[in-house]
Amino acid sequence: MFHVKKELELAAEHEGLVIGLFDKPEKFAGKLTMLDESFDGQLTELVKSGDISGKLKSINKVHSFGKIGAKRIWFVGLGKEKELNFDKLKEVFGKLFKEVKASKLEETAFYLDSFVTEQLDGLDAAHALSEAFALATYQFEGYRQKSNEPEKKLEHVTIYSEDFNEEDIEISLTVGYAFGKGTNSARTLVNIPGNLLTATDMANYAKELAAKYDFEVEILDKPEIEKLGMGAFLAVNQGSTEPPKMIVLKYQGKDEWKDVIGLVGKGVTFDTGGYSIKTKAGIVGMKTDMGGAAAVLGAMEIIGEIRPEQNVVAVIPSTDNMISGGAFKPDDVITSMSGKTIEVLNTDAEGRLVLADAVTYAKQHGANYLVDVATLTGGVITALGLHTTGAMTNHDQLFEQVRGASVEAGEPMWQLPLFESEIERVRNSKVADLNNSPGSEGHALVAGAFIGEFAEGTPWVHLDIAGTATSGKAYDLGPAGATGVMTRTLALFVERFEPIGE
Ligand code: BES
Ligand code: MN
Ligand code: ZN
Repeated sequence: MFHVKKELELAAEHEGLVIGLFDKPEKFAGKLTMLDESFDGQLTELVKSGDISGKLKSINKVHSFGKIGAKRIWFVGLGKEKELNFDKLKEVFGKLFKEVKASKLEETAFYLDSFVTEQLDGLDAAHALSEAFALATYQFEGYRQKSNEPEKKLEHVTIYSEDFNEEDIEISLTVGYAFGKGTNSARTLVNIPGNLLTATDMANYAKELAAKYDFEVEILDKPEIEKLGMGAFLAVNQGSTEPPKMIVLKYQGKDEWKDVIGLVGKGVTFDTGGYSIKTKAGIVGMKTDMGGAAAVLGAMEIIGEIRPEQNVVAVIPSTDNMISGGAFKPDDVITSMSGKTIEVLNTDAEGRLVLADAVTYAKQHGANYLVDVATLTGGVITALGLHTTGAMTNHDQLFEQVRGASVEAGEPMWQLPLFESEIERVRNSKVADLNNSPGSEGHALVAGAFIGEFAEGTPWVHLDIAGTATSGKAYDLGPAGATGVMTRTLALFVERFEPIGE
């Protein structure tokens, strides 16, 4: 896939050669002087006339007509040198890779040193490049009958760097690629429709992941879930013919099973809303209601690749939310695994129910820190739109670590408040300890507050990805559809995690 080479040889044959240009390029310097000379100074002329631009994300292709070994050069605008950061560079590479892919090239080379600034070294650039490569060229195959034409794929990327160590670059490329690949796996899980990704299918997927990366795996079947008294999880599954699965993966990177991070992902494979049924427009797309589970599984894949010195338990409650004569109903009172009873006011507020028991179970597996991820509420979309994940927490220091990871991963999040006023609304029931839907005012907040009742004293961060798990349109780092959001944030959070002293 990636080949790292020391010296940029202009005579070397390539389908394409990619070169970064800052705004405003005055003249070609260093190695690029020789390149310009091969074109008798005509590249400088193209820069002067504006045909080649250093403006951020401008991409200009120049054919070489045999003057150098590469058939074409892509000049890629990087904007002002001081303003370039890791996120922007990933987007630049993403946009470029989409163009390379559209040109059906199977091979291309990069002059890595042309993408380096004072703040971003060659290793950062290599990470950005390989992550962007995986993300931007991702495609969900879908289920159309195949045409016979074999599709051309970009399969060989040569990286020239004279200024950085080859092995270090290779490591950066491998890590960046693992982050991209893990995100793509999450995307694929989310893109698969509910009939083809049942709870059983998700459990089988987790088993394969465990076998590949040597995780401990535990899949609880319905009788075991019943035995453990996971009444909240079971209530959601009650109307379904598909059995529920509680999926647990454990990765132990420390000698002892301590300082355990619990990653909990909502795995609702299809959400009809149950008897509080969704509208015919609102129900479409609800195959994506396992986006939290997908992010956790994607992060576990990255963790399996990079093997950090951390302990992680992933817990995924998986079921669909269906209607039948046996389905749970509004007014039902159910008993969660924690013992807390819940008055069901809305069967469409099912995510918090499955998460309640998953959070309790993660704690039982020794989780000292909890992060849950869920496509939980339309309310978070009203509050924060489609590009910002909503976060809530009972522990500022833990949140700071999660937020730091999200900044580094380029996945924006914003904290929503967890105030007593909303906690009281969740605790307000005439017949039970809690109710699952205290009205639509600030419903992202009460949904989070409800899950917090099960985290209890354990440091916990809640991430509502209802708005960010999918994208209606294509963007530089991916196509329309599932985004795989929070996969990279979770993996980075785990990689960088520092236990918090009392
Ligand atoms: N899965 C939905 C949330 C959702 C909405 C995800 C839009 C992705 C896109 C969740 O289970 C749900 O139905 N939430 C309700 C909560 C309400 C009943 C309190 C909602 O947001 O309307
Ligand atoms: Mn719902
Ligand atoms: Zn849902």
